[in-house]
Amino acid sequence: MNFKILGTGSYVPENVVTNDDLAKIVDTNDEWITKRVGIKERHISVTDTTLDMGANAASDALENAGVKAEELDLIVTATISSDTACPSTACMIQNRIGASCIAFDVSAACAGFLFALETAMGFIERGTAKKVLVVCTDRMSKLLDWSDRSTCVIFGDGAAAVVLEATEDGYYNSVIHTKGGNDVINIPAKDGCSPFYKNEPEHPYLFMNGQATFKFAVNSISHDVAELFEKTGLTKDDIDVVIPHQANKRIIDFAQPKTGIDRDKWYVNIDKYGNVSGASIPIALDEMNKKGLLKRGDKILFTAFGGGLSSAAIIIQW
Ligand code: UT7
Repeated sequence: MNFKILGTGSYVPENVVTNDDLAKIVDTNDEWITKRVGIKERHISVTDTTLDMGANAASDALENAGVKAEELDLIVTATISSDTACPSTACMIQNRIGASCIAFDVSAACAGFLFALETAMGFIERGTAKKVLVVCTDRMSKLLDWSDRSTCVIFGDGAAAVVLEATEDGYYNSVIHTKGGNDVINIPAKDGCSPFYKNEPEHPYLFMNGQATFKFAVNSISHDVAELFEKTGLTKDDIDVVIPHQANKRIIDFAQPKTGIDRDKWYVNIDKYGNVSGASIPIALDEMNKKGLLKRGDKILFTAFGGGLSSAAIIIQW
């Protein structure tokens, strides 16, 4: 059993923050950010919550798919910035859009879309779900240290969603990895106010060793793609479109030649959104879909890496 994507959707907050705007907050400049990362602007939430963005993206995807919320069998949401630890963001999206199916979150940071697709595929293969909504939503701005120029300039807020339908035909194959540890990327959760705790207070916001993340990213993209080709017997020429996680344009520039897949197949839109965590890939997919850049039958390769550390590569058929 496989799935086809019936529709895509996305939502980003209205507030656009340019590199020049950031230069008023931290010691940075448009030239450094453009050259080192490839970002010109990002959308940063003013009032939109993680749920608001996810629910808006979900509604957009359902409309694009021509599917009603009541028809869904499963909602999987990938997020690392849920407004509440309980209920999960997926439960609240179910409530907002008027669905009644089971719903839960997965946490795999920037690789979240691929971990969520893999989870959805498990339900589809076992025949327990026919129509599935996968939503990625992150309000990264609430996790950042806005005095740390090496991290606050690279992330953005946003959400995207896809509606999947089980099919006999189509194509799906994946590789998925975790290398657990918090020395490279760490985002603490709140400790609460227990009078019994004696833990040392931790830096409360996102920490990232940028260069170690960069190396992990380039290595995992080339390794995961090679492993997926080995597993499937497909080659670079079978791939029509590559949508990589949009973390840094230079990571894509370094990784692309190692995969052997022609550069003109890689879709890059980081300049407009920054790194929107798990939502980066489905935002790009939605943009390609709405611009009419995808043809039925196209083989699309997704490749992602991020906190965990997590990485994955998936090939689907559009
Ligand atoms: O989605 C998964 C998570 N994230 C990633 O994949 C990010 C992976 N890493 C990266 O993209 C890059 O490592 C960064 C964009 C985070 C940093 O770029 P870099 O080329 O690795 O810079 P660096 O950390 O080696 O810093 C070079 C210089 C330093 O100055 P000195 O020590 O050479 O004087 C930094 O202080 O650039 C300085 N710098 C900045 N300058 C202006 C760091 N951030 C900034 C900034 N503006 N925003």
